[in-house]
Amino acid sequence: MSAEKLVVIGQGYVGLPLAMRAVEAGMDVVGLDVNADRVKRLASGESFVEDIPADRLGRALGSGRYRPSTEYADAEGFDICVITVPTPLRDGVPDLSYVEQAGGGIGPYLRPGCAVILESTTYPGTTEELLRPLLESASGLTAPGDFHLGYSPERIDPGNPVWKLENTPKVVSGVDAASRERVDAFYRRLVERTVPVDSTRVAELTKLIENTFRQVNIALINELTMLSHHLDIDVWQAIEAAETKPFGFMPFRPGPGVGGHCLPIDPCYLSWQVKRRLGRQFRFIELANDVNHEMPEHVVRRIMNGLNRAGRAVSGARLLLLGLAYKPNTGDMRDSPAVDVARRLQDLGAEVRAVEPYAEPHHLPGGVVVVGLTERELREADAVVVVTDHDCLDYDLVVRHARYVFDTRNRCHGPTVERL
Ligand SMILES: NC(=O)c1ccc[n+]([C@@H]2O[C@H](COP(=O)([O-])OP(=O)(O)OC[C@H]3O[C@@H](n4cnc5c(N)ncnc54)[C@H](O)[C@@H]3O)[C@@H](O)[C@H]2O)c1
Repeated sequence: MSAEKLVVIGQGYVGLPLAMRAVEAGMDVVGLDVNADRVKRLASGESFVEDIPADRLGRALGSGRYRPSTEYADAEGFDICVITVPTPLRDGVPDLSYVEQAGGGIGPYLRPGCAVILESTTYPGTTEELLRPLLESASGLTAPGDFHLGYSPERIDPGNPVWKLENTPKVVSGVDAASRERVDAFYRRLVERTVPVDSTRVAELTKLIENTFRQVNIALINELTMLSHHLDIDVWQAIEAAETKPFGFMPFRPGPGVGGHCLPIDPCYLSWQVKRRLGRQFRFIELANDVNHEMPEHVVRRIMNGLNRAGRAVSGARLLLLGLAYKPNTGDMRDSPAVDVARRLQDLGAEVRAVEPYAEPHHLPGGVVVVGLTERELREADAVVVVTDHDCLDYDLVVRHARYVFDTRNRCHGPTVERL
């Protein structure tokens, strides 16, 4: 029997790990992506996703069962197709154009018995109301009946050393029982545990609950942090103490804002759908967005005050930002609050330099000089700001040589350090 043919549309943070895992499980995989440069790099063994080291990609290519491609025609004869394309916001509104393009692209290659699974994060109803009619009209087939259709949210956490695709439970769903069984059987080959739910809407909402929960709780702790500063209470210590409660509490840490493709965006998919369907506001989400958006400005104000105490104006000051990616140990710059912090400081006339070992240079904010973490850079900076705490940076060196450290992540301690 020949191996099942899988097509993964989108070879980014979500699609590439899925493609690799499927090759390792014995499937024939076509990794489709419209980004020709990305496909070329993948074909030459260059991985840009930190969790997929080049040797793992090399093994997949060497097996002859992984083929990156820009051509939808290479999907011909597929058994299963998983869509992992971006779902951003455009002017605050869900932009499903990538899902539409992927559905339109794969539609002509559907055949009876195949399965299509959407993994992109989106509002409840997308699979059945948007993707299904697209696939049906492009293929002349119907679901359920001719082909299987389902939704399975991705929970990948780039840079997480413990929770990977294979050991993170995967929620699965289908537009009918047969679709769900097919989707479930596919993921059971790839992950340790699947969690079937009754409908695609439940699966779509599951992902939004998870990310809204994080967005709201981070906002709660961010607001508490701003207030604790004025109350002169060490919020970090209070969180650590609260964390000792063995039940009913889950710690969240403050920071300079939220970034990435998930937290600033996914909850807005939910609030948009609530507004559209019910004409109501999702108040928690709106409030959390407001608070999180306030953080870069708060950070800049605190840095200004710190410089002021040393008799230094921010205009003309030399500032060294440590970590610009939106989360530690990755180079993911999407919606990073560090960009906002850097721009605000530049607008105030500061010279902004940065240490960012992971992000690709063309993703960094313009005018920011990227430097290495050296004694000299630390000494010559009027302020060193820990924005994103990559583990590879030497924080002892920072504390030893910096005149003034503003630390948004609780990594540095000492008399020259001020924490968020
Ligand atoms: N990155 C994460 O941590 C994460 C976690 C869970 C869920 N998600 C969700 O998964 C989805 C994908 O996110 P990502 O981080 O992998 O994005 P990404 O930008 O890293 O990758 C998406 C890829 O899709 C490609 N693409 C766009 N349109 C295409 C098309 N029509 N045909 C083929 N390829 C196309 C892009 O060129 C890109 O390479 C989003 O909905 C996101 O919200 C992301």
